[in-house]
Amino acid sequence: MVHISLTSLAFGVAIFSSALAFPTYEPLGLSERQLTEAASNKGGPGAKVPPPPPGPPSFTGTKLVDDAKHPWQPTRPGDIRGPCPGLNTLASHGYLPRDGVASPEQIIKAVQEGFNMESELARFTTYIAHLLDGNPITDLLSIGGKTPRTGPDPPRPAIVGGISNHGTFEGDGSMTRADAFFGDNSAFNPALFEEFKGFSNRFGGGFYNLTVAAELRFHRIQESIANNPQFSIVGFRHLTLYAEAAFPVTLFVDGRKTGAQAGHLDMRSAESFFKDMRFPKGFFRAAQPSGTDPSQEIFEAHPTVPGRNVAGVNTFTPDTSLGSFTDSCAFYTQFANKTIKGLYPNPTGVLRRNLNINLNFFYQSLGGGSESCPQVFPYGQN
Ligand code: HEM
Repeated sequence: MVHISLTSLAFGVAIFSSALAFPTYEPLGLSERQLTEAASNKGGPGAKVPPPPPGPPSFTGTKLVDDAKHPWQPTRPGDIRGPCPGLNTLASHGYLPRDGVASPEQIIKAVQEGFNMESELARFTTYIAHLLDGNPITDLLSIGGKTPRTGPDPPRPAIVGGISNHGTFEGDGSMTRADAFFGDNSAFNPALFEEFKGFSNRFGGGFYNLTVAAELRFHRIQESIANNPQFSIVGFRHLTLYAEAAFPVTLFVDGRKTGAQAGHLDMRSAESFFKDMRFPKGFFRAAQPSGTDPSQEIFEAHPTVPGRNVAGVNTFTPDTSLGSFTDSCAFYTQFANKTIKGLYPNPTGVLRRNLNINLNFFYQSLGGGSESCPQVFPYGQN
């Protein structure tokens, strides 16, 4: 089970759960009205039965993705963008809805089509984000902040939660986004990008590669320990830190590059993705389905442990209580039974139905059906 590189990521898979004391429902993007209607089994305007995720595309080689059908366009007032340069780019090219609000189905299709992200990783990442931050009733997720309530009727029936929500998926120590403690945890941060370029010059001869990834990743953690009294990389964040450091190597480098050029991201392309949310001109996606494979290497260069500053800056204290190093089954089980159950303690009606459907899709993304890791049902089986 979980051959998405939870094997390669499995150095510190701790679990979100109780350390993240979420107030329930509203911050997730559910309005009171939706909850009432969900409980009555109607679901309210915009309620949807989540469709099954799309599988891998029929062609998985490299191809031009900065194509005529997907022209880059600047954001319009009201369009949402967030902390993920990959999803931002896909929205600005129309692989995702340009307003930045999408269903899991649309996200899974777009990351495979636009970047050649591995199919299981695409589903795994998307369902985690959707279960943590999305609106399970309307089956929509914002790629940035929570959407405003727009009134009683569609087009956007109510609030939709988003991935900028700090402490869920979004976390501290990002390469080009500030820690939430310092303010904007979602927008491109020019000063941090200068560090990104500085490290690429120092360790990569002007390119971002795995050596740079390892050094910058470690540096950003040390920097935050020294400056952010609330710094935390407990739980899932300890995993995503290393996954996200790998993506610029595996998914932002043009798929036609081979030999010494492969795995080396030039700074103009980096700026295009991180800052402009745009494919470099004439960009070809990765040559084969790709994702987090090198994250183990990035981690091993400077191993760290999950933990947080417990009493101000420079008080980093390891905290591995929320998971195990290599046990992906424990990760899945606790995510469903503790984290999601903690967010939604007593769902009823359509809400409960849709949570069950999404939890099932999440289980399937781990190579579901494995006898070694039985499926769990925090809300019962029907
Ligand atoms: C599959 C759906 C995806 C979801 C739900 C997702 C979600 C996120 C989130 C929540 C963050 C912020 C984490 C943080 O730094 O605090 C993030 C960061 C990041 N994502 Fe994505 N992502 C997805 C796909 C992608 C793809 C396809 C790429 C690359 C092509 C990508 C590249 C990155 C990078 C490089 C960062 C780190 C940004 C930084 O540290 O400054 N992501 N993503």
